[in-house]
Amino acid sequence: MKVVVLGATKGMGRALARCMAERGDALFLLGRDRDDLARSAADLEIRGAHGAVGSAPCDLLDPTTFTPALDAAERALGGLDVVVVTAGLFATQDALEQDAALRERLLTANFTNTVLFCELARPRLLASGGAARLCVFSSVAGDRARKPVLLYGAAKAGLSYYLTGLDHKFAGAGLRTILVKPGFVKTGMVAGLTPPPFAGEPEQVARTVLRAIDRGTPMVYAPGAWRWIMLAIRSLPRAVMRRIGF
Ligand SMILES: NC(=O)c1ccc[n+]([C@@H]2O[C@H](COP(=O)([O-])OP(=O)(O)OC[C@H]3O[C@@H](n4cnc5c(N)ncnc54)[C@H](OP(=O)(O)O)[C@@H]3O)[C@@H](O)[C@H]2O)c1
Repeated sequence: MKVVVLGATKGMGRALARCMAERGDALFLLGRDRDDLARSAADLEIRGAHGAVGSAPCDLLDPTTFTPALDAAERALGGLDVVVVTAGLFATQDALEQDAALRERLLTANFTNTVLFCELARPRLLASGGAARLCVFSSVAGDRARKPVLLYGAAKAGLSYYLTGLDHKFAGAGLRTILVKPGFVKTGMVAGLTPPPFAGEPEQVARTVLRAIDRGTPMVYAPGAWRWIMLAIRSLPRAVMRRIGF
């Protein structure tokens, strides 16, 4: 498969790209730090990626970088089968309430600009004519409004809504949209937070997500236990949500 990954330099994106390299997929990396991209590309080549792993600058906070980045990926790979977006920002609710600039960056990156990036990737994937895949990392935080992740969750809820709609509209035309809802996963993004029970590892998430991409599964919780945790949380009445702290 010819795969583009935005966010492969760290965390779950890195783990997923490594799984893909190990089975011989052709990869092209997008990200904002050229040195990190070059290091990640070399790592993926050693792990068995098909051919040279190319890269291009792409900053989720700067939509003018999206078209040149996707153009470079398409040229290098000779077409696109899969586009993966794991890039995203996290900050605590307290930090977001106190810092207007941080709030704007997080909401813009995690919702508006992720949607803009997907809208540019979508026609290219549809034009590929095969079993194209768009795989995007949202969050369980978008499933139910909760006090500690109110703003982050609002952006992810909007993203999940958009990705669900993409599946409804374009599955029949050959584009499979894979909406990934990670629970708490031990990456740099959440370093410093106390892991809850059922916290996952990036490698475990990567295996689950790769299976979902191959099968064209429209929505996947990772680790899988979060499907049932969120089912329970979604069923809690408003009066309980007002009282509890999570
Ligand atoms: N970890 C969790 O518990 C958890 C839970 C639910 C959902 N998620 C979601 O899952 C996804 C992956 O999370 P993770 O934990 O793997 O995160 P991570 O370890 O922090 O990795 C995030 C990746 O996104 C890239 N990135 C950040 N800002 C960017 C920007 N402006 N432009 C381009 N790339 C940018 C980072 O690149 P740099 O090296 O340039 O920073 C890095 O490669 C995110 O969308 C996150 O919201 C995570």
